[in-house]
Amino acid sequence: MDKKVLITGGAGFIGSHVVRLFVTRYPHYQVVNLDKLTYAGNLANLTDIEKAPNYSFVRGDIVDQPFIDSLFEKEKFDAVIHLAAESHVDRSITNPLEFIQTNIVGTVTLLNAARHIWKDSPEGKLFYHVSTDEVYGSLGETGQFRETTPYDPRSPYSASKASSDHLVRAFHHTYKLPVVLSNCSNNYGPNQFPEKLLPLCIHNIKNNKPLPVYGKGENVRDWLYVVDHALAIDMIFHRGRVGETYNIGGNNEWQNLKLVIKLCEIMDRHLGREKGTSEKLITFVTDRAGHDLRYAIDASKIRKELGWEPSVKFDEGFDKTVGWYLSNEEWLASVTSGSYQKYYDEMYLKR
Ligand code: NAD
Ligand code: DAU
Repeated sequence: MDKKVLITGGAGFIGSHVVRLFVTRYPHYQVVNLDKLTYAGNLANLTDIEKAPNYSFVRGDIVDQPFIDSLFEKEKFDAVIHLAAESHVDRSITNPLEFIQTNIVGTVTLLNAARHIWKDSPEGKLFYHVSTDEVYGSLGETGQFRETTPYDPRSPYSASKASSDHLVRAFHHTYKLPVVLSNCSNNYGPNQFPEKLLPLCIHNIKNNKPLPVYGKGENVRDWLYVVDHALAIDMIFHRGRVGETYNIGGNNEWQNLKLVIKLCEIMDRHLGREKGTSEKLITFVTDRAGHDLRYAIDASKIRKELGWEPSVKFDEGFDKTVGWYLSNEEWLASVTSGSYQKYYDEMYLKR
């Protein structure tokens, strides 16, 4: 069936993989990518599909209610996949208010617009909210987050995402808005902004700069290849039960220090450096304030209900990721210099 799907944050890391998947796999859908193009949004992530007849891009801010209302009125979307967010924990510690605006107010702005245009015919419509495992808080040495784990967010970022999750559920209960949610673990892969651990370390290793490991590097994250997250979103979008939440994870836990050491080994191989060269760059730095110790996901619900499993083995995905950053030097250079941001600002200011 034909659908018009709004994807928010489609110029970002995960959003660009979701846009690509939907544009190429569903040529009969119209995919509209709405993105503010903050420092984290980059249209260069989508050059391969930007001319597809079923794709269009709109630059705009999800916090701007009159703009969002008129976009929904004009486009009459059948579904929304909402990924736009401020996503970096360290930035939320420095500037929490921006996270409240985008992640909470922006989500309610979209919910309001969807509620108004769908109120008379909610059948077949869907508001899909993409969230994070960080809403569940921090684990000790054992255990995993389930969909029923009580929320316990501990950073301004995770608190803003938790708040947005609650509001999505509140719109479902109060206004019967058809919604679905997913909470995913750490993603890795091409097109991630190099402020996050892995692309930052790849960039620094290449340039012989220190690799900042927070605290003792003992914190644990569960890593999933970004395309597997996009595939899970596709399954939940098409076959997930309305009103439900699905946890998504890689079942692939790594202590930060061990992960960075593994990355150093792969980088040495790719760069033809002697084994052990890059590891010498590891530098322990002051810990992140309130640093969550461990995240781990129980993804049995999505596995049992929808048959989703990660398809990419970690060694393969990790190697592919390093290869991508090394062979896309221009992308890395432009996002680290900020030149692309200046270009967009100038280009869109002229319009
Ligand atoms: P990202 O920071 O790479 O991309 C976010 C995108 O949203 C950017 O393109 C940015 O320009 C856009 N954006 C920001 N504010 C906006 C606004 N006010 N209006 C319109 N667009 C705006 O983020 P990501 O890592 O791709 O994460 C995408 C989503 O997935 C987020 O909701 C995040 O919470 C969630 N998530 C991320 C991960 C992860 O490991 N990266 C894991 C689980 C869930
Ligand atoms: O769990 C899902 C979350 O994963 C997403 O919701 C977030 O949007 C995403 O940014 C990510 O959050 P993290 O804080 O886990 O990712 P980050 O890459 O910032 O850090 C990963 C781990 O590495 C974390 O324990 C902090 C540590 N770290 C990070 C950086 C940037 C370092 O030790 N050094 C660093 O320089």
